[in-house]
Amino acid sequence: MSWPVIVRNLTKRFGDRTVLDGVSLTIPPGETVALIGPSGSGKSTLLRCLNGLNTFDAGEIQVGPHRLLPGGHSSSGAIAQVRRAFGMIFQDFQLFPHLCARDNITEAPMRVLGFPVQRAHAQAAALLERVGLSSHADAFPQQLSGGQKQRVAIARALAMEPRGLLCDEITSALDPELKTEVLSVLETLKRDGLTLILVTHEIGFARRAADRVVMLCDGRILEEGPPAEILERPKTERMALFLKRVLG
Ligand SMILES: Nc1ncnc2c1ncn2[C@@H]1O[C@H](COP(=O)(O)OP(=O)(O)O)[C@@H](O)[C@H]1O
Ligand SMILES: [Mg+2]
Repeated sequence: MSWPVIVRNLTKRFGDRTVLDGVSLTIPPGETVALIGPSGSGKSTLLRCLNGLNTFDAGEIQVGPHRLLPGGHSSSGAIAQVRRAFGMIFQDFQLFPHLCARDNITEAPMRVLGFPVQRAHAQAAALLERVGLSSHADAFPQQLSGGQKQRVAIARALAMEPRGLLCDEITSALDPELKTEVLSVLETLKRDGLTLILVTHEIGFARRAADRVVMLCDGRILEEGPPAEILERPKTERMALFLKRVLG
């Protein structure tokens, strides 16, 4: 079961710099949201707030039944539940370099969820198959391509049986072919009904796979809506200019 995510009036400051300025967003369970916007617009900060990795200064975040509060007042229980519910995947994979693909995947379920080794191994085998890497269970990260590493990272996140995934530019470091294999795994997760919040510069992918595109600019939502509307008929000059730049 996926969970909804509701962000109300989220404000985040670093020192005297306001990085998120009253962001409100409601994401129904199972929705795929493409979060786009120029560098420095606050996309990563928003994902990190959603995952309880950043505290925030005002507003509120609700993830399923759990609430994160401003000023570091979230309960540690809520933070732990939110982190567990929404796996986060990064551009640079962050796999454990000393562990093979299988052990990267089994580590958290065994340590955090208390899975016995056999159950964890069976789960890892199923997940490696799901991301098309059955024959790479024993491979170490340095033996894998970027696309394969990213698929192991997705499998590792799925091993915690999340309600959704937060992906921060997870294809940005990959060659075009390898991008495609990672994006097609994301499309299968979408079909399986997982809530996906993706920071991406892949406008073609956003148009095809996202239910909604959210454009962040200077810490505010500039435009949001269905991809066809937002990407084909931008309402603001700023959005049109951004699209022109990313589409080259
Ligand atoms: N830990 C931090 N300390 C101070 N400033 C930060 C920190 N993290 C991000 N910022 C600033 O917040 C702004 C938004 O950053 P970020 O969320 O990473 O943007 P994006 O992911 O859209 O490129 C940037 O100006 C960045 O320099
Ligand atoms: Mg970023």
